[in-house]
Amino acid sequence: PLIKDLFGLTDLEVRLARRLGLKKVVIVPGDADQSDWVKKEMGRSGARLLRQMARPDQVVAVTGGTTVAALAEMMTPTPSLKSTMFVPARGGLGEAVELESNYIASLMAKKTGGDYRLMHVPDQLSDEAREMLLREPHIQEVMELLRKARIVVHGIGEATKMAIRRKSSPDEVAHIQHSGAVGEAFGYYLNSSGEIVSRVRTVGLQLEDLGEIESIIAIAGGRSKAQAIAAVCPAVGNDVLITDEAAARAILEET
Ligand code: G3H
Repeated sequence: PLIKDLFGLTDLEVRLARRLGLKKVVIVPGDADQSDWVKKEMGRSGARLLRQMARPDQVVAVTGGTTVAALAEMMTPTPSLKSTMFVPARGGLGEAVELESNYIASLMAKKTGGDYRLMHVPDQLSDEAREMLLREPHIQEVMELLRKARIVVHGIGEATKMAIRRKSSPDEVAHIQHSGAVGEAFGYYLNSSGEIVSRVRTVGLQLEDLGEIESIIAIAGGRSKAQAIAAVCPAVGNDVLITDEAAARAILEET
């Protein structure tokens, strides 16, 4: 805490929490766009917070991406996390396997000694295929766990960057660009007013399911994500944000 005060980050945390309507903000020094070390520090803060919040026999749902992966890497065995069930929040969204929520849920379980489930679902499903999959017992079991989740941990991405990373077709990328989307989370693309302008259809937690969840933790940083974070947090109804100094200052000054 002393070091934070020296950097003026405690004050920044309070101001950002107020701006985005969050209960808690954790800011690490630096800019994740400039250095991977900053992303690791966000991961470390996130892992610490999860350790503090843990309760026996809880379900934790997780999304994908490099920042949630950084958090997973920093997790350590903790008695209350040993009885935690880590569940992927969404089926595949078309990313590299190490960035998928499936893989990250398994990594968290491995690091903590907890348990995990996988959601074996291909990305970007047709409506018919999704309806059919939702009737599969294996998928229903995971959906049941997701509905019981106490905590959700998710990343936030820049809209166009995420569409390209997920190998969306050129038409879809153009649509996302023209729709005014600035941010992405859970496969939803949002404009700067927090309205959904596009989405990837997959099974898993939908935005409307999040209301029941005790704690929704976003982890995202880097100056380039300022607009995305400002759009996503109020729309998702986050209560916690773990970010970095560059994103925090840019949100307060530019959005
Ligand atoms: O949905 C958002 C992305 O998963 C964020 O990914 O942490 O690699 O930027 P990232």
